[in-house]
Amino acid sequence: MVSPELEKRDFSSKKIQQFQKKVFSFYQKNKRELPWRKTKDPYKVLLSEFMLQQTQVNRVVSYYNRWIVTWPTIHALAAAPLPKILQMWMGLGYNTRALHLHWAAKKIVTTFDGDVLKALKQYKELPGIGKYTSQAVQIFATNADLVTVDTNIRRIFIREFNLPESVSDKKLWILAKACLPKGKSRDWHNALMDYGALYLTSHKTGIKPKVQQSRFEGSNRQIRAKILRYLLKETMSISELERNLGIKQTRLKGVLDKMRAEKIIVKRNNFYQISE
Ligand code: ADE
Repeated sequence: MVSPELEKRDFSSKKIQQFQKKVFSFYQKNKRELPWRKTKDPYKVLLSEFMLQQTQVNRVVSYYNRWIVTWPTIHALAAAPLPKILQMWMGLGYNTRALHLHWAAKKIVTTFDGDVLKALKQYKELPGIGKYTSQAVQIFATNADLVTVDTNIRRIFIREFNLPESVSDKKLWILAKACLPKGKSRDWHNALMDYGALYLTSHKTGIKPKVQQSRFEGSNRQIRAKILRYLLKETMSISELERNLGIKQTRLKGVLDKMRAEKIIVKRNNFYQISE
């Protein structure tokens, strides 16, 4: 619900109309052809949103295309072995996303009869899916009159409506609802994403994402990626990993324990391996 006070003071309907016109006119001229924009299949849209989290569009395209040939349905993905899934994800980064996607697929098949949209309405039961992703998939798959606010959309609202960077999520979502052209949610969100990615960039505005990506070099995330790379080839003991990675066992131990807790890997007879 839009509070009348907010609407009057900050977001006059004239301003909103001008904003919509500007964004749509940019989109008409600069629209990107992206493979996931050609489908309304909720599974494929969900896949694209998982891949696009923290990853540039141009890196995602080839991964997405390969993936949907290998696993064209949520059922196919749910039935796939985890090592094969991690292998396909390799190079995209943030491997936990692949794991969450697999878990979510299994849960959607077992608990929600393979109905992605039904499952998304209860997204809190699905790993790796927050409000942003749940709403985004419903928007792109069904064109429902819903809104979503990611880093790019947040930046656009801050700049176009002169908001402070400290603006609350609540306020941003209220503004997003006030700006939504009814019946055009799919086009509107695609247009916003293009406007943010191609024109009103972080570089141009100086507006930083709320949570910044942490440095990869020397991070536990990098160690995890290296461990996965080795374990996808063969099982290894901690001393073999230490030798191959050149990282001390004390540091490795913590990372390995966390990966075991997340069920990415298991330890059998002192040898680590990827979970089946
Ligand atoms: N980033 C997140 N979702 C996206 C989408 N559907 N298109 C382009 N960039 C995105």
